[in-house]
Order: sequence, then C-alpha cells, then structure tokens
Amino acid sequence: MAIQSSSGGSKPPAPKRLVAPEATAAESDGGRDEGLRPRRLCDYIGQSELKQVLGIAVEATRLRNDALDHVLLYGPPGLGKTTMALVLAEELGVSCRIASAPALERPRDIVGLLMNLQPRELLFIDEIHRLNRVAEELLYPAMEDFRLDLTVGAGPAARTRSLELPPFTLVGATTKAGSLSSPLRDRFGLIQRLEFYSCGDLEAIVSRSAQLLQLELAAEAAAEIAQRCRGTPRIANRLLRRVRDFASVRGIATVEAPVVVEALAMHRVDGRGLDPSDRRLLSLLETSYGGGPAGLDTLAAALGEDPDTLEAVVEPFLLQLGFLQRTPRGRVLTDAGRAHLEAA
Ligand code: ADE
Repeated sequence: MAIQSSSGGSKPPAPKRLVAPEATAAESDGGRDEGLRPRRLCDYIGQSELKQVLGIAVEATRLRNDALDHVLLYGPPGLGKTTMALVLAEELGVSCRIASAPALERPRDIVGLLMNLQPRELLFIDEIHRLNRVAEELLYPAMEDFRLDLTVGAGPAARTRSLELPPFTLVGATTKAGSLSSPLRDRFGLIQRLEFYSCGDLEAIVSRSAQLLQLELAAEAAAEIAQRCRGTPRIANRLLRRVRDFASVRGIATVEAPVVVEALAMHRVDGRGLDPSDRRLLSLLETSYGGGPAGLDTLAAALGEDPDTLEAVVEPFLLQLGFLQRTPRGRVLTDAGRAHLEAA
C-alpha cells in the first residue's frame, strides 16, 4: 500500500509515503483514518511542546541537508505517534517506511528494510519495545554509524561483513518506554512523550474531521465528543464516525449536542468517555477488593484481559482522570472513581 502525500504550502511535493507490508494496526485500519490525519506540522493540533521541539529539529535538518536525528515517541495508543512520523517525512520531503516490531521476526525482515532505505528516509517502527534481540542488535550500528553488520557463514568459518547504509532516521514508537533496553533508548537523539489532548484541542480536531467528512456538526456537539474520547484523537474520530452513522440513518442534517449524547449512549460510552472495560475494572476493584490495593495480574486475570493491554491501554486514562492510583501495593480506586461509579 503506498500513500501519496499532498504537498501543501510552498514546499516541493514530497515523494510517496511507503507503507511496508508489516503495516501497523493503526495504519492498516482499512485506511479509515488516512483522510483525517494532518499532513503538515501546521495542521497538527495539540502537543505544542512536541511540535516545537520537532519543528526546530526539522528546520535545522533541512538547513544542513542532513538526515533527521533518530526520534523516539512514547505514550498511550491513539495519540498520534504514527501521524507524527508521517508529518515529519512530509516536512522533510522524504518517504516514510512503516513497520511494526512484532512483524520483524526474522533477521532478514529488518535487514531487508534497512537495505532498501534511500538517503534521509524515515523508518518508522511501531511497538519498538517488542523488537527481538537479533533485530535490536542489528539496529545499533545501523543507528549509530549507518552500518549493517552481517554474519556470513556459520561456525568457525563465520565472518562479519559490514555494509554501508545511507543516512536515515529511525522513528520508534512505544506505549511502554520503560520496556526499551537502555542501549536502544540511548541511540535516539530526540525522545518525546505524547500527552493526552485537552478538551479544547480535541474539539478542534473533531471539528476539523467533521469538515473533512462533510458533516455539519454544531460546536456544542463537537464538545460532547471531545469530552467522551479519553483524551485521544483516534477515539474522537471513531466516535465521530458513529455519530455520523446515527445522523445519516435518522436523516439528521445538522448534528447538535443531544444527538451526540444519544448516539454515544448506544455505544455505552459514558459522559467522561469511559467504556465498559473501564467501568468493569473500577467495579471489580470496588466490589471484589474493597477498593484495593489489588495487583495488575490479579485484576487482569479476573477481567480476562492481558495485563500489558490493561496497563498500556485501559489504565492510563483512568489514572489521568484520577479515578485510579498505582501504588507499590497495587491498584487503588480513588474517591473520584467511586463517585463516578455511583453516579453511573
Ligand atoms: N486528527 C487526528 N489527530 C489529529 C491532530 N493531532 N491534529 C489534527 N487532526 C488530527
């Protein structure tokens, strides 16, 4: 799948974006988010500190006609890590190859990606904390010296051959920065965290997406979606599509706030954006563990969830809302979390 980028502004048109066969879930999501992604830094709403830091790095890189330093983006899923990698490629006028670490199983997968890179191209590796050891060790000299060290032959006759690589930029993305080995983390020149978006930024994102989808959405309706999307643009755009479905089936031309409330109640998304998995976690803590503390593995087993998913996907927003606390003895339901459950 190749994604043609738009040029925009006065910059020369960038070459095609390339998406490797190991496209990430976000990227291969039927291409659904594709039309809604911002393409340039100036269209990217929110994450002001990240934009400022990367904007300066991009500008300096352009002035030097160099490859951008390697970038590590971390934070909860859906906050725009893949989008930012594509924006960086667009700003630099180069292609971005997209891969996901779990798909880079065999050494030849990563070798193939590295050997096909063109000068100054971006290589985006999603879930980079899941790279296997061989792939990771191949990356070290590639990142540091643009060199690929290959072992040829086996046993006593084995020899190392080094191949020169063009200067390139690795953009790594992870929801679990703590799981990255320090030698890998230390090879990134820019390490940036993506934060949950403010309601104001999410409102602007929803209004922009509605315009692109040619949906008439009142400002208060955009605010209702913004409040229910867990601080996450990917969820905001997903909810917007559900609202659009609801409005088309009901023959509603202009979507006002009550339509959003009704449409999203059908999907069991509550007023603070909690979905059934969030509420199940909070209720379990309250009813089975007297509010906690309870260990992550215990909770995951009781919910039939994978502990990593619970920790990286479900918990961060509950922590952000102050409904849940992580303590050395386990997870604890807060008074605010209890009040939310009681009000539901
Ligand atoms: N769509 C998804 N994320 C976005 C962002 N950060 N800015 C603008 N549009 C978006």
